[in-house]
Amino acid sequence: MKRGERLRVFSGRAHPQLAGDICAHMGIPLGEVTVRDFPDREIDLKVECDVRGADVFVVQPTCPPVHDNLFELLSFIDCLRRASAEKITAVIPYFGYARKDRKDEGRVPINAKLVANLITVAGADRVLAIDLHAAQIQGFFDIPVDHLFARPVLMEKVRELGAENPVIVSPDVGGTKLARAYAKELKADLAIVDKRRISGHETVIENIVGAVEDRDVVLVDDMISTGGSISDAARIVKARGANRVFIVATHGVLCGEAVKKLNDCPAETILLSDTIPIRGEAPARLVKASVAPLLARAIDRIHRSESVSSLFETSMRDHDLR
Ligand code: R5P
Repeated sequence: MKRGERLRVFSGRAHPQLAGDICAHMGIPLGEVTVRDFPDREIDLKVECDVRGADVFVVQPTCPPVHDNLFELLSFIDCLRRASAEKITAVIPYFGYARKDRKDEGRVPINAKLVANLITVAGADRVLAIDLHAAQIQGFFDIPVDHLFARPVLMEKVRELGAENPVIVSPDVGGTKLARAYAKELKADLAIVDKRRISGHETVIENIVGAVEDRDVVLVDDMISTGGSISDAARIVKARGANRVFIVATHGVLCGEAVKKLNDCPAETILLSDTIPIRGEAPARLVKASVAPLLARAIDRIHRSESVSSLFETSMRDHDLR
């Protein structure tokens, strides 16, 4: 294998568009692979090019269908290990099961840890992820984890929204740290919706901590799943006198009635990154921001054994990719 061929980027079936965009930014072809299902829906996977001694990256968010995408990632890693790849990095732009990161009641699993174990045992040497639901999930892995933030990518678009006298609002207390980071960067105030989760589908809003009246509100969250939290938050800030309302989230899981809830809520823009592909109908007022350039730069740096955290200290321009 020639030196230039030592870096290979592959895609599972979860998000080939993102993997292709990453490769386009890096100026390299996407690795050839055949992935299909047997009639019983077991996965049939074959890497079609030589990977012996290569530094390999597999792009696969573990978004819905979660178990298909997760097992496909595990199968891919196993395949590459057996094909003698030198290093395997699982590029997981969205890490599913991240919300199940603790035993918050008796007799429940910690599925985020289980998934971390599975990825490690399959043979990954490293994980590259974006906006993990809780940063401490990095510690569930005994292999290195490079944790990227989508904030610089989304922030570029937030600035284009032209929010006047903005206040950044977290739709729940757990999201305060993320919202504070946006507020700091935008030099804006922070407010928090005091939400209580009743079940996986149902939440109630108790209060808002901070001022939203006569302000443009930028609601920030790491993910939109059923859309309940963020659309309820949009409604309550509007009811408390907010002017324009914008929604910003890294991961658009968009399951169940999410699209309808977003379409029906008073937000004028739904800004999402492309860590997860939009399956089916997209929200009506969707604006997308791509993490492909960010991932391309991170992959390039990991391959060169250069600092990844410095990505967030330097400019976000493409010329950073050598
Ligand atoms: C919660 O901790 C997360 O940050 C999100 O707020 C939540 O997962 C969103 O879920 P949903 O869209 O179903 O309300």
